[in-house]
Order: sequence, then structure tokens, then C-alpha cells
Amino acid sequence: MARTPLVAGNWKMNLDHLEAIALVQQLVYHLERSDFEAVEVAVLPPFTDLRSIQTLIEGDRLPIALGAQDTHWEDAGAFTGEISPGMLARLHCRYVLAGHSERRALFGETDEIVNRKLQAILRHGMVPILCVGETLEEREAGRADEVVVGQLEGGLAAVTAEQAGDLVVAYEPVWAIGTGRTALPEDADAMCGLVRRTLAERFGQGIADGARVLYGGSVKPANAKALLTQPEVDGALVGGASISAEDFAVICRFPRL
Ligand code: PGA
Repeated sequence: MARTPLVAGNWKMNLDHLEAIALVQQLVYHLERSDFEAVEVAVLPPFTDLRSIQTLIEGDRLPIALGAQDTHWEDAGAFTGEISPGMLARLHCRYVLAGHSERRALFGETDEIVNRKLQAILRHGMVPILCVGETLEEREAGRADEVVVGQLEGGLAAVTAEQAGDLVVAYEPVWAIGTGRTALPEDADAMCGLVRRTLAERFGQGIADGARVLYGGSVKPANAKALLTQPEVDGALVGGASISAEDFAVICRFPRL
């Protein structure tokens, strides 16, 4: 089944709203219409940038999807400092990350919390990008498959096949995030294949064939083609290289590199 690849830029805690506008303007300058036809391009800026980027995208009719890096699971209430999924939907966010490894490792997010967030994202009509991936110790202990399947099952608990319609999963080995180390293309392919088989067991082959499974972890212009043209890999979740318009544009053009 032909799946449109997705290249999503996770800016993390970088770029204020003015820098954000400049980056998106540079990005569209580097990309052509045919690039946007071949690949769906998304940016996931910090919360404080979302309204500015939404206005830019809609005002200039840019073919870029907007997303957020996190959400709370409740719709409203006494949760000082948090942002609700309804607020993100009102800003026309299409995507929201759930379970990024930095949230799991630095902010104590468990599979149960990830699952609550994922359900909240779906409830508001947005598409979750569920992030999964093993640590180096887990890989070296031969536990990578078990960890990834466990995170998928935990994150997707109580989600129905109907809701999983346009699900995105990002396989991001923790040891490759921000380290300059990447998975071998064949390992990335194998792990994305494992994700798809797990989705097939859970939701049926049709849903699994339609779901996009991304690779993430030190994706750069130099390695994008090798990683992202693997048969089971449907694009990338890009961190560091996404805050350079030039580098991110090269990665978005991977089908014609
Ligand atoms: P990186 O980050 O590309 O900087 O390794 C990827 C991610 O955390 O999504």
C-alpha cells in the first residue's frame, strides 16, 4: 500500500516565536511544490510558537502541517502550567507527540500517562505520533523488541481499530537521539517492521498497512536517504536537524536525493 511519507520536525525547546516564523519562511523557500506532493512536511514547535506558525501557515496557505510536542490529557481544570488537547485542536494542530523518550526519561511519563495523552489527542480529532524505542542497555541485553512491543501495547491500550485509522508511530532508539549515532538502515527497517506487525495483531492488517511508522534518532542530510528509503520506514521524526531550515529541507527531499 502506498503511504505518503511524513517528515516531522520536533524543535524541542528551541526557537522563540520570531525565530520560528523565520525558520518556516526559510523552509518554504528551500522546498518546491513537487517536494510537498511527495512528502508530508510537519513542524512541531514549542507551545508559545504555535499561534504564530498557525497564522503564517494559514495566511500564506503553506502546505505544512502543524503539531505540538506534548499535551495534558484533561480538557480543562486546575493543572497549573499545562496545555489541554482542546487548546491545541483550536490552533489547528494536526499532530501531537505522545511518549517522546525525553518526556519518559526526564519527566517521568509512564505508558499509562502516554496512553491517557494519546486518547485525549484522538478525542480531539488530532493524530498522535506515538514514540517508542529502547535504551542502549535494553538493546545490548537483547530486549529491544520486547521493550518496543510493550510500549506500543501500553500506549495503545483501549484504542479501537476505528480510532487507529491514521495513527503515526515513531521508532526512536533512545541511544540514537541527539547523539549523532543512528540505527543501521536495516535495523531501523526491522524495528519499523516489528511496529507494523504489532499494529496488525492489534488492529488488523488494513490499519497496519495504512499507519505510518517513522524512524527518529540523529536523522541528518547525510543519512536521510539510506534510512528513509527502507521499505518499512515511512519518514522521519527529526530533532536537531529540524531547527536548520537548510538541513530539514534536504531531509524532506529524501525521495529525490
Ligand atoms: P534528534 O532527535 O534528531 O536530535 O536525534 C530526534 C527526536 O528526539 O525526535
